[in-house]
Parts: sequence; C-alpha cells; structure tokens
Amino acid sequence: MIGLDEDEIVASGRIFTTPVHASRYETEIIVAPDRRGRGLGSQVAAHLAELRPDPKPMCTRGYESSQPVRFARYLGAHPYQTCPPQHVRTSSAAALPSAGPGTVTAADVDAAELHRAWTDTYAWMHDTWSPVAPGFEQALLAGFDADIDLAHSRFVVDPTVRAGAYVFRDMPKPVVVAECRTRDEPSGRRVLQACIRDCLLSLAADGTTAITFDGHHSDPHFRPLLDQLPTTGETFLLLEWT
Ligand SMILES: CC(C)(COP(=O)(O)OP(=O)(O)OC[C@H]1O[C@@H](n2cnc3c(N)ncnc32)[C@H](O)[C@@H]1OP(=O)(O)O)[C@@H](O)C(=O)NCCC(=O)NCCS
Repeated sequence: MIGLDEDEIVASGRIFTTPVHASRYETEIIVAPDRRGRGLGSQVAAHLAELRPDPKPMCTRGYESSQPVRFARYLGAHPYQTCPPQHVRTSSAAALPSAGPGTVTAADVDAAELHRAWTDTYAWMHDTWSPVAPGFEQALLAGFDADIDLAHSRFVVDPTVRAGAYVFRDMPKPVVVAECRTRDEPSGRRVLQACIRDCLLSLAADGTTAITFDGHHSDPHFRPLLDQLPTTGETFLLLEWT
C-alpha cells in the first residue's frame, strides 16, 4: 500500500510471506523523512494489519537499537528470537580446544549431500520458533552454490555430514552458520567445536581476520560454543506483533 498526501507519496508499506518461512507476515514500512514523527508509520502498520489475508502475526527484525526495532516495540512487538552479539576474530580459534574429530572442507563433500545437510540443519534449527514452509528447499538452496565458500567451510562426516560450519561469502565479512545436522546429535558440541575451530583456523591462515556468525539464542550446540569465544557487536532481535 502507499500513503498519499494530495499527489505526493508520503509513506508505503507491504507485508509478505516467503517460500522459506510463511508463519508470519514480514512487514516493511517507510515514511518520507520529512513526514516522520506524525503518526503516519503507525497508520500504515494498522492498515497493513487489516489487509492480512490470515490472522498470522506481523514481524520485523533488526539490531536492538535500530529504528525498525524501536518502532516495532511502540507497536507492541515482542521478540520471538534473539541473536547474541556474534562478530568474532578468526584468531579466537585458539579459545576452542582441539580435542575433536577431524574435519573436511565443503569441496570434499558430495554436492547433493551438502545440499541435504544444509536443508536438514536449517529446518530443525527453525522448527520450534519459525517453522519452514512445505517445499522450502528449492528457495533455500537458490544461491547456495554461488555463496558457499568451499575451501573454508568445515564438516564432520561419519559417514554422512553430522555437523558443519558453513561459510558464506559476504561483505564486509564472511557469515558462518554452524550447527549439527540433527538436534539430538549424540556428541553435538564436540563435533561442532571441531568444525568451528578448523573453519576459523582455515580462514585465518588465508588472511581473513574477522567473521560474523549467524546463529540464534536457541541453537543448542552452537550457543554454548559461541559463549567460549570473545565476541563484539549488538544483539539482533526478531520481533512479532498481532
Ligand atoms: C520507522 C518509521 C516507519 C516510523 O514512521 P513514523 O511516521 O515516524 O512513525 P510514527 O509517527 O507513527 O511513530 C510512532 C512511534 O514509533 C516510535 N518511533 C518511530 N520512529 C522512531 C525512532 N526513529 N526512534 C525511536 N522511536 C521511534 C515512537 O515511539 C513514535 O511515537 P511518538 O512519536 O509518540 O514517540 C520511519 O521512521 C521510517 O520510515 N524509518 C525508515 C524505515 C524503517 O525503519 N521502517 C521500519 C520497518 S518496519
């Protein structure tokens, strides 16, 4: 929708679901800079809520101090997921002891198995708080082959992928998603520690000094390992409102 003042567009907003996540409406609102602070954003939010085809919650995301988060809190939003500060220097690999099993790179894993491991991992990581939509795999894997760093991503394979630190090329620094393939991996923290340690060592040896993890407070194997690493950054929130 757009908000008009005479012929001038002064605000716009949209809600949408994605092929990967469809249980909430992603919400985007923008008000012309010289019209802010006069209630237009709140009016657009209220109108978008009425346009919802289903009574699913609305949602947005951002760093704790960001404009979208402060605005959403005003609308009554609460966090349904929290991402702790997770900028890490690759030299921090030494903080994780090397008692774990050996790892291989993504280039050593069959491409179809790598895809299945990624979609399996992604699905269970989100199932309790943002379940994936039926048939999400195709959308999740679009761009995967172009973005994955085959040389620095690290996996424990026994005999299939059990855990991985997936490195995605990004600017200004690579993004790393690290978790086991199943929630109930018996030695989850140990195998994941090996992946994270070897991934950070590999990136450091290649001249990359810093990465950002993309994990969540609720990730059962990743979160305790992140707590062992020195981190910087700001808490990132995913918020919903009805
Ligand atoms: C966020 C945005 C949509 C708000 O539009 P707006 O017309 O200024 O919003 P409103 O006038 O309805 O403000 C409602 C309340 O939101 C809160 N709020 C809005 N912008 C805020 C900001 N930058 N910082 C802190 N609180 C803010 C305030 O509590 C405000 O109430 P108050 O003025 O009585 O204190 C607008 O600033 C914008 O377009 N920002 C850039 C894009 C963006 O961040 N969009 C949000 C994505 S959902």
